[in-house]
Amino acid sequence: MSSLIKNICCIGAGYVGGPTMAVIADKCPEILVNVVDINEERINLWNSLNLDLLPIYEPGLDNLIKKRRNKNLFFSTKLEDNISKADMIFISVNTPTKKKGVGAGKASDLKWVEACARQVAKYSKGYTIVVEKSTLPVKTAEVIKTILEASQLSPDDKEKKFDVLSNPEFLAEGTAIKDLEYPDRVLIGGENKKAINSLTDIYKNWVPINKILHTNIWSSELAKITANAFLAQRISSINSIGAICEATGADVREVARAIGSDSRIGSKFLDAGPGFGGSCFKKDILNLVYLSNYFGLNEVANFWEGVVLLNKWHQHRITRLIIKKLLGTVTGKKICILGFAFKANTNDTRESASINICKDLLEEGAVLQIHDPKVDPKQIEVNLGKKENKKIKEIKDQNYFQLEGQWSFEKDITISSDGADAIVVLTEWDEYSKINWFAISKKMRKPSWVFDVRSIVSRTKVLEANINLWKIGDGTNN
Ligand code: NAD
Ligand code: UGA
Repeated sequence: MSSLIKNICCIGAGYVGGPTMAVIADKCPEILVNVVDINEERINLWNSLNLDLLPIYEPGLDNLIKKRRNKNLFFSTKLEDNISKADMIFISVNTPTKKKGVGAGKASDLKWVEACARQVAKYSKGYTIVVEKSTLPVKTAEVIKTILEASQLSPDDKEKKFDVLSNPEFLAEGTAIKDLEYPDRVLIGGENKKAINSLTDIYKNWVPINKILHTNIWSSELAKITANAFLAQRISSINSIGAICEATGADVREVARAIGSDSRIGSKFLDAGPGFGGSCFKKDILNLVYLSNYFGLNEVANFWEGVVLLNKWHQHRITRLIIKKLLGTVTGKKICILGFAFKANTNDTRESASINICKDLLEEGAVLQIHDPKVDPKQIEVNLGKKENKKIKEIKDQNYFQLEGQWSFEKDITISSDGADAIVVLTEWDEYSKINWFAISKKMRKPSWVFDVRSIVSRTKVLEANINLWKIGDGTNN
């Protein structure tokens, strides 16, 4: 299918910009795709010859990069040049929650989006379609339009013309390539039919037309944060029921199976765990809360804020529970943390439940050995706000009291369990479901515990290895 669009520029080479543009480049070899970013280090990593060094770990991404990079897919810091050549520009920059000022703690910080709009206004030439790919508060397209239209007022820029579309991304990390190649739907919001069709033509190269939905621009923006709010709501719902299961003798997996069989509810997104993490769920719900409050819909705001509050409560509940099982104190006790990424198959740690749970345990004086197959220990240092202390590995005879509240990274699970009182499984990496508990048990101090917060280890194997087991949402724990 040939498209009117020949040259795409994507501003933002992050978890969305990188994979999304790799898939577009692969599906549309006749389109030149330039991904630009102000972060030079990130761009260098996207260009690294060793594909293990790509800034994002995402199954299947390395193959696509190998196939398309320097053919019709380019990564660079040359914003001005690539914006001026593009006939379609995707804005795919970060939109975190505002830290200060009006709406702090809830509203999205749009300074990066605004900066992009100004760059586009300045450098673009002729007619350009600007596509919001970032998740943006309802009515942001208006802000972008205002900035772009202001640039048309200058006598030198009379030939500049813009259309703004909303095309939110629904990929989940860890399955991004599959989600992009076989999306449940592609959403395009906009006013100008010709611009909508130009973007539709790109997606039509691999997405069935009945899955490409057209809406007005505000519905598109709102649908994106609503989808995330609904998904996050399911997780808080199942985690709240998990807590009831633990108290009553029910099993949350059985409850999830029973309710998930109802086709109106569905079986996905019902896994109890340590609470949702990731860069978007909390931010997008808080955005919805801000929007509701802004329009005086305080009950609506309270309803959605409850989803975030439950999630926070749930993470602290897990720490309290670990402390209780470890005889009321974790001070000077070694605990192995398995998993720091917010979910499996990604190296992303943003808002990971592991951060809060580890911080709580360190605060209580525990000594942590943290393992994750893909997360860089330097990232853990940033998240915990505390330097790694490698001396933990030299401690003999469980004399961990001298290193209370310290942590270190260990890539060998057996070594990290040496002298440990507990192992806490926080991310559902496949390798954690295949651990040889007999070998681990020999290394641990007794009584030893496994806290399976993802419900992925075999109850029988852990118990046969003479280790106590606590499983999330399992009322038979007691
Ligand atoms: P990210 O932080 O990984 O990447 C954003 C990139 O934009 C960074 O590399 C940053 O340097 C760059 N950037 C910021 N301002 C810039 C500017 N003015 N010019 C050039 N580059 C600039 O963020 P992300 O996870 O890719 O998320 C991007 C957007 O997509 C957010 O709005 C997010 O809510 C949304 N989203 C994310 C996901 C996800 O799974 N991560 C999924 C769907 C939607
Ligand atoms: C989520 C949405 O699933 C995507 O559709 C959306 O595009 C994206 O947010 C976004 O806008 O950023 P993501 O955060 O990458 O994707 O990953 P999810 O699979 O949704 O998981 C989010 C969190 O919920 C993780 O911490 C995960 O472990 C947890 N989760 C998920 C559960 O605890 N139980 C489940 O059953 C599912």
